[in-house]
Formats: sequence, C-alpha cells, structure tokens
Amino acid sequence: MNTSIFENIESNVRSYCRSFPTVFTKAKGAVMTDESGKEYIDFFAGAGALNYGHNPDKMNSRIIAYLQSDGILHSMDMYTAPKREFLEYFQEKILAPRGLNYKIQFAGPTGTNAVEAAVKLARLAKNRQNIFAFMGAFHGMTLGSLSLTTDRCSRAGAGQAMQNVTHIPAPDMFPELDTIAYIERLLTDDHSGVEKPAAIILETVQADGGINVFPAEWLKRLRDLCDRHDILMIADDIQVGCGRTGTFFSFERAGIIPDIVTVSKSIGGCGMPMALVLLKPELDIWEAGQHTGTFRGNQLSLIAGKAGLETYIEENMESEVQRKGQIVSDFLQKRIASLDSRIQYRGIGLIWGVDFSKFPSDMTKPLIAACFKNGLIVERVGRDNNVLKLMPPLVISDELLVKGLEILEASLKEIL
Ligand SMILES: Cc1ncc(COP(=O)(O)O)c(C=O)c1O
Repeated sequence: MNTSIFENIESNVRSYCRSFPTVFTKAKGAVMTDESGKEYIDFFAGAGALNYGHNPDKMNSRIIAYLQSDGILHSMDMYTAPKREFLEYFQEKILAPRGLNYKIQFAGPTGTNAVEAAVKLARLAKNRQNIFAFMGAFHGMTLGSLSLTTDRCSRAGAGQAMQNVTHIPAPDMFPELDTIAYIERLLTDDHSGVEKPAAIILETVQADGGINVFPAEWLKRLRDLCDRHDILMIADDIQVGCGRTGTFFSFERAGIIPDIVTVSKSIGGCGMPMALVLLKPELDIWEAGQHTGTFRGNQLSLIAGKAGLETYIEENMESEVQRKGQIVSDFLQKRIASLDSRIQYRGIGLIWGVDFSKFPSDMTKPLIAACFKNGLIVERVGRDNNVLKLMPPLVISDELLVKGLEILEASLKEIL
C-alpha cells in the first residue's frame, strides 16, 4: 500500500489517517474497504456525519439524478428547489411534530461555521460579550469556536489569546459539586469576578470530551436558570443530533427547548457538508447579509439531507437506535467491562464510551491499533484520549453491530 505521497506532501496536521493507516477506496453501509480489499466495520461513522451509513442508495440515486438533470449546483443563498423541499420537509416532519418553532439559518458548510454564527448572534442579541461553556467541550476549531473548545492541544494551536469565555465544570466532573448552583453563584455574587454571559453553550452529551451524558434533570435546571437570568441556551447538536441519542434532537429527553441549536454532520445525509443554526424567531435580528459565506446550503447536501430525513422517519430510526443501544449496553456490561474491573462504560442511544482512565498506562492507542488490524474502525477521545468512542452508523445491522463489538472484545483481550 503506497502512502508516501500523503506522508511527503500532506501537512503534519493530518490526524485520523495516523490511526487508520491504509488507503480506502470504497464504503457501503457500515463497512469500509481499502485498496487491498480488506473490509473494516465502521464504528466511527465520520464522527457523526454518517448516521445513515456510507453511500445509501436513496441518497446516491437522488444526487446522480440531480446532476444528470443539470440542476443548479451553486447559487449562494438564492432560492432553489432543493432548498425549498428540504425546508418544507424539515419544518413539517421534524420541527412541527416536536412543537419547535425555529427559523433556520444556513451557515458555511461545516459545524464550526454554525457555532460561530450562533455565538455571534447570541452576543448581538444580548449585547454581552461573555459566553459560558463547559469543561470537556468540543465546539470546533475556528477561533470563536476554539475559544469554547477545551482540549489543550487544539487550544495551543490558536496562536493568540482567546477571550470572553468562562468554562464551567461539567456536571460529571465533581459529583459533590452542584454545577447549577455554582453558575447561579457566579451570576449573583457581586464578587464573583465573572461577566454575565450572553449565552451558555453545551453538548447535552459531550462526545469528543469522553462521552459525558448530562443528566436530563440537570438540563432542565440549566434551562430554568437561563430563563431566570435572561441568558440564551445554545445546544450544540452537531455530533449528537440527527438521531444519535435516540431522539432527533439530543435535548428532547429533557423536555427542554434551547433558544439556539447548531446542527451539522448527518444533516447532510451521506457525508455531504451542511451546517444549520436553528433560532427562535425573536432572535432573528440579523441584518440581510450580516453573516454570509460562499458555500451556505450546498444543493447536493440539501438533496441528500432531505433523503436522510425521509430515511429517519420511514425507517423508524428512534426506536431502532434505542433498541440497538441496548444491544451495545448489554454487550459492554457482559463481555467488555467483565474483562477487567478498571473498565468503565457509559453512553446513550448509539454513542458509547469505554473508559480506560483507571489503567496506569495508555490502553487506547494499542487497542484502536489492534481493532484496526482486526477490521474495526474506532476512535479514542476524552481526557488523555482514555475513552474509546463507539459510534456506528445508526442503520448498522444487528449482525454487523455484534460482529464489531466482538472484534473489540477480541482486540481488548489481546491488549490485556
Ligand atoms: C459538538 C461539535 N461541535 C462542533 C464541531 C465542529 O464541527 P466541524 O468539524 O464540522 O467544524 C464538532 C466536530 O466534531 C462537534 O462534535
């Protein structure tokens, strides 16, 4: 397998290819194939961009038909038929049934663009500069988002001061600390030294932070606190939205409605780029063109995205994710955690973390290498990269799901 061109000319910033050092040529559903014909079960799913798997027939055929019809491909934010169809479907099938009344802003093509727009809008709406984010958060790599993101390596790349963000301990960090009471104190204590924020941004399940599931009751209390203090709540559903946790939006389990929601990754259907900001109508205070971007609302992403939403509804994804999540949870309990008392696991829906932080040495690096050798693509995340993140496409068959888990079990036995 010749990888020298990548090693010679591609920047050192390349990352996942180091964990999965092969050249991929094809992929279908939950299986990726490399140049030598070797197949890998995908428990990575494009970091959440491939909830519907690789190359779903429905999306591929719609994209091909659109291309063959000479459908318009680039149009800035002019009105187009694919955008109309996407918006109508999203409103009718996703927002309305959930009683959600949001306006939709198309951001530039990638998740961080939506976060930038959301935070900019919150600051504009409240005329305050500070934002609260949580320790363990990942919100993207451009400077505004990076100032919210917490991991040291990413932040070290900023090359400049990152200001106007206060990081709050996440609810899982100190079991004895009531983090809502802590925030309340920051806001009310005239000696806290902390500026009142325009917004509090959070992932209801921190994904890259190590699969930290924020409790539903805690989310409710945070919503209440935001209301009482006139602070906007921004849910960053870029990784754990689009059905990943067992409901379309990850905050549904808490029965709360954030003021602003960022959505990306699987909203583009089959890995096509798209990023949205959902905002309460009263927050739509933008001047025309006040936040633009050449690649907002890519037409092929809108076509694939609508097909993805259809798949979500027609294939009853919510109950399927909950059912498959149970398979993962049972397996982790019976066949992974049972291998060593230091192994912990946690998760929801089809995002699970296996935590090796109690081991004295780095377990996850050799483990993901062994998984890769044995035909499983799986990523490591969290503090010191101590957590294995299991995130298969939502459409994975039961058979492949269990086979992937069995590869994990066998690989772990090799390492232990
Ligand atoms: C929660 C969350 N927010 C924002 C982002 C940034 O998205 P992107 O990498 O597409 O810019 C990510 C990416 O993983 C994410 O997980």
